[in-house]
Amino acid sequence: MKHILDIDDLSATELGTIVEHAGRPVAELGRALDGHGVACYFAKQSARTRNSTEMAVVQLGGHPVYITDAEVSLGKRETVADVTRTLACYHRILCARVYGHEVLEEMAGVGVVPVINLLSDAAHPLQAIADVLTIVGEYGTVEGRVVTYVGDANNVARSLALAVGLLGGEVRIVTPPGQGFSEVDTDRIRTAGISFDWSDRIEDLVPGSDVVYTDTWISMGEEGIRQEKLRSFEGFRIDRDVMASAPEAIFMHCLPAHRGEEVTDDVLDGPRSRIWAQATNRLHAARAALWFLSTHSDNKPWSPVR
Ligand code: CP
Ligand code: NVA
Repeated sequence: MKHILDIDDLSATELGTIVEHAGRPVAELGRALDGHGVACYFAKQSARTRNSTEMAVVQLGGHPVYITDAEVSLGKRETVADVTRTLACYHRILCARVYGHEVLEEMAGVGVVPVINLLSDAAHPLQAIADVLTIVGEYGTVEGRVVTYVGDANNVARSLALAVGLLGGEVRIVTPPGQGFSEVDTDRIRTAGISFDWSDRIEDLVPGSDVVYTDTWISMGEEGIRQEKLRSFEGFRIDRDVMASAPEAIFMHCLPAHRGEEVTDDVLDGPRSRIWAQATNRLHAARAALWFLSTHSDNKPWSPVR
């Protein structure tokens, strides 16, 4: 069964197919989910991901069902595997936003329904698809473009590095000393055939960039270590001086932004910001990913009834 838990579940060709279909008019994808349900489980808050995913399901002729722990109490009222099997009785695809990535791996491991990661502690693949679509919209291609991520080497950074790298872009990562990708992350990125540059100095890697990207320093679930993280990222804010060192670059951020922390208002709201194109592209990315999984030859609906 084909799942999208992170970008490296896709080959470069498959990612290219999804990005290409994301750019097509809705009607050209057909009603791939006609009459089908799509379960959208959220263990955390969301504005963009919930709305873009639900509307993408509707555009493909399906019906999204929003589910939180208030109903299913995942892993407490019932095991993750049994909730997965239950949802597979009614839904063509299971989309889930969780804290620990291992929950998604457990869902996918049941093997009864394709799973899409709507954000875990490790990855945010639909965001990365929307991001490469935004870069294609700006420059015509990702190939050869220099994408520099500054800040927390988190879920968004990992998926972005994989997506940009797979499509032939140059990946640069700037984090505070000792806070770059872990060895496991680095191995995973290199296993996907991607190399990247890392530095702890903005001035080493931002000049010459086509894209300067950042995300919050305090991801959902990290509120308890807020002060510690604010201290570690001091000096890594994207402001007009940082953007001046890459005069041709656009600015990107997955949102939600913590205005005044990782980025200043003038950059977020300035002429080089593409944050609303990214948010818009979340819908197109979700639609193409749902289309891809629902039409994939390995993804036959589960039928437990004899
Ligand atoms: N970028 C993103 O995933 O936003 P939400 O958390 O609002 O879904
Ligand atoms: N890194 C952020 C992304 C939110 C879309 C988080 O995990 O909260």
